[in-house]
Amino acid sequence: MIPLAKPVLGAEEEAAVVEVLRSGQLSLGPRVPEFERRFAERLGSGVHASAVSSGTTGLHLGLRAAGVSDGDEVVTSPFSFVASANVVLYERARPVFADIDPRTLNLDPEAARAAVTERTSAILPVHIFGYPADTPALERLGLPIVEDACEALGATHADGTPVGSRGHAAVFAFYANKQMTTGEGGMLVTRDPAVKVRVDAERNQGRAPDMDWLDHDRLGFNYRLDDIACAIGLTQLDRLEGMLADRTRVAGWYDEAFAALVASRGLRLPCPDVGQERRGWFVYVVQLPDGVDRDEAVVALRARGVQSKPYLPAIHLMSFYRERFGHREGEFPVCEDVARRSLALPFFPEMTVGQVAEVVEALTSVID
Ligand SMILES: Cc1ncc(COP(=O)(O)O)c(C=O)c1O
Repeated sequence: MIPLAKPVLGAEEEAAVVEVLRSGQLSLGPRVPEFERRFAERLGSGVHASAVSSGTTGLHLGLRAAGVSDGDEVVTSPFSFVASANVVLYERARPVFADIDPRTLNLDPEAARAAVTERTSAILPVHIFGYPADTPALERLGLPIVEDACEALGATHADGTPVGSRGHAAVFAFYANKQMTTGEGGMLVTRDPAVKVRVDAERNQGRAPDMDWLDHDRLGFNYRLDDIACAIGLTQLDRLEGMLADRTRVAGWYDEAFAALVASRGLRLPCPDVGQERRGWFVYVVQLPDGVDRDEAVVALRARGVQSKPYLPAIHLMSFYRERFGHREGEFPVCEDVARRSLALPFFPEMTVGQVAEVVEALTSVID
């Protein structure tokens, strides 16, 4: 079976983990600031990074730092992993969805503008599938922005700025299917030193850096990332450029091998980069043509030895969101159409050209 995802882990990660175990300092140790410093450096000078226990916890702290609270509204994309909407609810605010751009699959800035009310306290764009959201257009709305960059390590905006370096709180994630992994983990980046101080305190039970262990001056959480995870993260950073290049190469093989199916059946591939925009390749998601049942395709692919996944379902149509907010089909037609057709195919740095050919052959036999 060709798996959907597979992390690149080797002797370096093993050695790094053993070193932390032998040091006896498993948490709140030196690997944390080292990982933060090296991660921030990649995004350019003036960026501060805070390691957190997951992308979800980073987004939660990002929203708190943006001032989102009780009864506020946060405009966001319904075409995302559910965490980007859930974190708004953690602060008793309301996620207000706006439809997506059919090319990039990211929040449509015009739809976002139309969704803003006097209660909107932030915008939460998602760089879905690693393609940069139109953050510069969203900035013109004049509201705080918290970027969900969980899928977008290595992506670049049209003006050449790396995703995560524009100054808003932006959050990356390190679950094992991501561009780099720490097992579980995340990183919040910002250009505002005050945000860094606040996030560092809130991830650590509300303890300010100059306080004693059992002294807490605000509400906090345990959202820390431990030294074992940070040690893995440091070795993954050493590999990162290579892993990103490998992902880009695999995507190129897919694009080429799918050309016939694009022409004959109208299969839609991930949108190519425009201008200086660069996707940070995370997943390879195709949109199936009319008349193909996506869920049957998943079963047929599995029978041919290929793992695939409906990715992503529309958040507003999930049972919890329907029941809580009364959402219904037809509210966000672009998102709903894309969610019905989208299929994630096997995609990982060490994938071979032969495996790509197998996947393409299997999908061709299923839908052609
Ligand atoms: C778009 C998006 N947002 C948020 C998350 C949450 O990240 P984590 O699983 O690290 O909490 C993910 C991870 O899958 C994601 O893909």
